Amino acid sequence: MNRELILAIESSCDETSVAVVEDGTKILSNIVASQINSHKRFGGVVPEVASRHHVEQITLCIDEALTEAKVTVAELSAVAVTYGPGLVGSLLIGISAAKAFAWANNLPLIPVNHMAGHIYAARFVKPFEFPLIALLVSGGHTELVYMQEDGSYEIIGETRDDAAGEAYDKVGRVLGLSYPSGKEIDELAHQGEDNYHFPRAMIHEANYDFSFSGLKSAFINLVHNAEQRGEELDKNDLAASFQASVVEVLVTKTLRACKEFPVKQLVVAGGVAANQGLREGLTTALAEEMPEVELIIPPLRLCGDNAAMIGAAAHVERQKGIVAELTLNANPSLVL
Ligand code: KG4
Ligand code: ZN
Repeated sequence: MNRELILAIESSCDETSVAVVEDGTKILSNIVASQINSHKRFGGVVPEVASRHHVEQITLCIDEALTEAKVTVAELSAVAVTYGPGLVGSLLIGISAAKAFAWANNLPLIPVNHMAGHIYAARFVKPFEFPLIALLVSGGHTELVYMQEDGSYEIIGETRDDAAGEAYDKVGRVLGLSYPSGKEIDELAHQGEDNYHFPRAMIHEANYDFSFSGLKSAFINLVHNAEQRGEELDKNDLAASFQASVVEVLVTKTLRACKEFPVKQLVVAGGVAANQGLREGLTTALAEEMPEVELIIPPLRLCGDNAAMIGAAAHVERQKGIVAELTLNANPSLVL
């Protein structure tokens, strides 16, 4: 049987990425052009700047992905592209490139939800066994997703306000760290102690929802009050205390979901899945309380935005026979 080769394109936020993925499970190339240095000085992603960078990078990334994969256009089976959620201008660059490439080379176009892509990053680690629960934690999303089969998503809980990654980035700004600050806070946290005891919002509520804006406010208020009094706070302890709150809530609610649904695996996905505290917390909690549930966390390079994960999710869509028309449009608030 011929191998399936998908050229996947991801441009929903601030990484232009193109990958070639074989049979949904093997990465032949995964080019990621990050624009983060252009956005750092603004303290966040500037949509217009992001779109311009995508325009500059997209064709270079496509060429590089094919070259690195040693795959010719004639060998490709399909083109896949993220069509939401994300920044509309950024999404449109990837979609336009994918449409042009598909049309010019007479290839089917497969539309992919960015969040499904994050989940399927874990598919490069191990085959999925259903039912499973995915904890999706990124800069824009914090969700618990129940999956009974490939490509089926039921959101059983989500954040009522800020996403976990967003809280990391906002708190980082108050600490004077550069954007995005999740990784740096994670590193500082490992050198400090949970001495400030921030609240654990909604931890005892019998649902699977989250809230991080109260924690963010508590953190900001503590720092501002200390500044006004001329008091010095320990940066490492602040990071450790913030992270302890985020991790405890995420671990507690995720474990509760794993106990109440008949799950075989727990998948952790999205940029915040790179967090060492969260990885350690979930590993320990599962080993102690539910060793029968298998934990799958993608390697760090597949936690952040990349096109290989879009290729893996596209493989599932293709098996379901899902193909987009060339009228495909961006959907900035697409849900799973
Ligand atoms: O999935 P992603 O790359 O982009 C979105 O789709 O949002 O996630 C980016 C988010 C940022 O908020 C960043 O601060 C956070 O992931 N992040 C982390 C870590 N690495 C990245 N948060 C906590 N700990 C980390 N080690
Ligand atoms: Zn993402």
